[in-house]
Amino acid sequence: MDIKNRIKELTDIINKASMEYYVNDNPSITDQEYDDYYRELLNLEEKYPEYKLKDSPTNKVGGQVVDKFEKVTHKTPMLSFDDIFNEDEIKAFDERIRKTCPNATYTLEPKMDGLSGSLIYEKGVLVRAATRGDGVVGEDITHNVKTIKSVPLKLNKEIDIEVRGEIYMSKKSFEKCNEERKENNEALFANPRNAAAGSVRQLDSRVAAKRGLDYMAYFIPNPDEYGIKTQSESLKFLKELGFLTNYKLNGIASNTDEIISYIESLGEKRDDLPFEIDGVVIKVNSLKDEAKLGFTQRVPRWGIAYKFPAKEVLTKLKEIKFTVGRTGKITPNAIFDPVHVAGSIVSKATLHNEDYCLDKDIRVGDVISIRKAGDVIPEVVEVKKERRTGDETPFKMIDKCPMCGSDLVKEDANYFCKNPHCPARKIESLIHFASRDTMNIDGLGERIIEDFYNMGFIKDISDIYRLDNHKEDLMELEGFGEKSITNLLNSIENSKSNSLEKVLFALGIRHVGKKTAKILAKRYKTIKNLVNASEEELTNINDIGEIIAKSVKTYFSKEENIKLIDELKELGLNFTYESTSVNDTLDGMTFVLTGTLEHYKREELTKILEDKGAKVTNSVTKKTTGVIVGDKPGSKYDKALKLGIKIYEEKDLDELIK
Ligand code: IVH
Repeated sequence: MDIKNRIKELTDIINKASMEYYVNDNPSITDQEYDDYYRELLNLEEKYPEYKLKDSPTNKVGGQVVDKFEKVTHKTPMLSFDDIFNEDEIKAFDERIRKTCPNATYTLEPKMDGLSGSLIYEKGVLVRAATRGDGVVGEDITHNVKTIKSVPLKLNKEIDIEVRGEIYMSKKSFEKCNEERKENNEALFANPRNAAAGSVRQLDSRVAAKRGLDYMAYFIPNPDEYGIKTQSESLKFLKELGFLTNYKLNGIASNTDEIISYIESLGEKRDDLPFEIDGVVIKVNSLKDEAKLGFTQRVPRWGIAYKFPAKEVLTKLKEIKFTVGRTGKITPNAIFDPVHVAGSIVSKATLHNEDYCLDKDIRVGDVISIRKAGDVIPEVVEVKKERRTGDETPFKMIDKCPMCGSDLVKEDANYFCKNPHCPARKIESLIHFASRDTMNIDGLGERIIEDFYNMGFIKDISDIYRLDNHKEDLMELEGFGEKSITNLLNSIENSKSNSLEKVLFALGIRHVGKKTAKILAKRYKTIKNLVNASEEELTNINDIGEIIAKSVKTYFSKEENIKLIDELKELGLNFTYESTSVNDTLDGMTFVLTGTLEHYKREELTKILEDKGAKVTNSVTKKTTGVIVGDKPGSKYDKALKLGIKIYEEKDLDELIK
């Protein structure tokens, strides 16, 4: 077969397999086969870019960058439904419908909590994607939507069609996304909807590609063009075209009792669904009925959105209190009258930073609504501006540290106290050092650290390991006995043998979170090696960018930090990496294979390397750890030589793998 046909064949195989996986929930090939086909396609496309197809699955990794969002006028306005909240309103809706269409039946669909997106296909190929915008004019987000795995780049039919649906982020992707943001000290997204909206509003499609967005199709604006007669047929047609639909959850009802029981049963499933929903969309099924009902000035008459009772409550903002984190970052916090939300009483919530407060125009005295984001962290959802009396005090950012009075310094969106001796910073960094994810010192919690700091027992991290000198004094303190102090001193002693990554994370180096600390510890094995690593070398590690590298170097260039590490060593702390698994010896490394090997099949070697924690990729970059070269190597070998990447021959593999 010639190359061009093979590329087409691979494109089709992979697109079909993706659809079966993402849309039908029914994979037809193994992950390994998928990866092999994908790699083969990537290889061929690299060599023969002229044959790369528009619907190539390799487009999904993103890459296209736009410099602004173009405006798109919708062919038919993108409307939304009126919201209703209770049974009476459901009954009133049904009565209204029955006046015009006495025999109406309804489709019932989960109301996806994301943002609506219109997709335009020409001859079955995705040509444009747009947000709703104001309903008439939206924004072109094609570059980002193309990266969404559940969006088919090519349909199963070569038709022109507009499809509408919801762009959303699954609960799993949301958690992953926020974990990464936390790791990088970036502001967390309050909920999956905001995360999805933030992701499609990126100019660089690589960002959206990484976020793991999804698309649920639910509406065709011109169904009669395809001979469709009901909304259920629209949903079926969308599925046939290759879209993800809620076919397992959608329902049908012919009266209000059936609607209400559907709502109840979906409500029970809600927490177990992989995505957020905020209600049920009720649509008249017959398109004839739909046409008869038509539109009001604003909204369709033929459908309505029932919203689940909110997990939100109202309270009054009493104070905005600024706290100082261990990096010196100043965070405004909302302090409000205690309220019961989703099972617990809360009285404060983070307001993130100045921009967040100004955007919300939040004022002391405002009535605000609170909910628990992801059901855990309380969050201010909304300021009820209509309830203002005029006595509210507008937000004003402070310019001095609330603890030590130093001038604050603004960096990007945040303000920092730069005084290394600021007591708030000290206490926060001590709390961080002892906490579960870092040195895990049982019995040294927030309150005790604060007390010990104020009493002068612990002023610095190293003082934790000198606490045993004060055993007698500590036992005198109220609330402590010999037993609790002995336990505390034991857990301090135990923490000395933690592996390098724990203490690295504990030191509080800016931008070095749990994951980064692990990568660095595995790579360098001892603190000495890490201290000696150059910025360039650090940047060359996969998953370590310039910002982290710079921050690590800055930390180790300060005399006081080196002094602290020496002191801790002296006090008996371990600063070497104690691998817990024999199987992760290649963690953080990236290899590229080229040429034919005598003793290994490519897939076999890939698996061996991956099982040991390495990544195997297709192109050589300066971040590649090594290139494994067999007989008749390709251009990757030349590129590796040019970039000075380490070359492994087959005879070197034994040592590498062992
Ligand atoms: S149909 C004319 N179906 O909720 C409205 N919308 O007011 C056509 N939504 O803005 C939309 N799930 O963003 C429809 N299964 C669903 C939906 C859904 C979520 C969103 C959509 C719309 C709002 C409904």
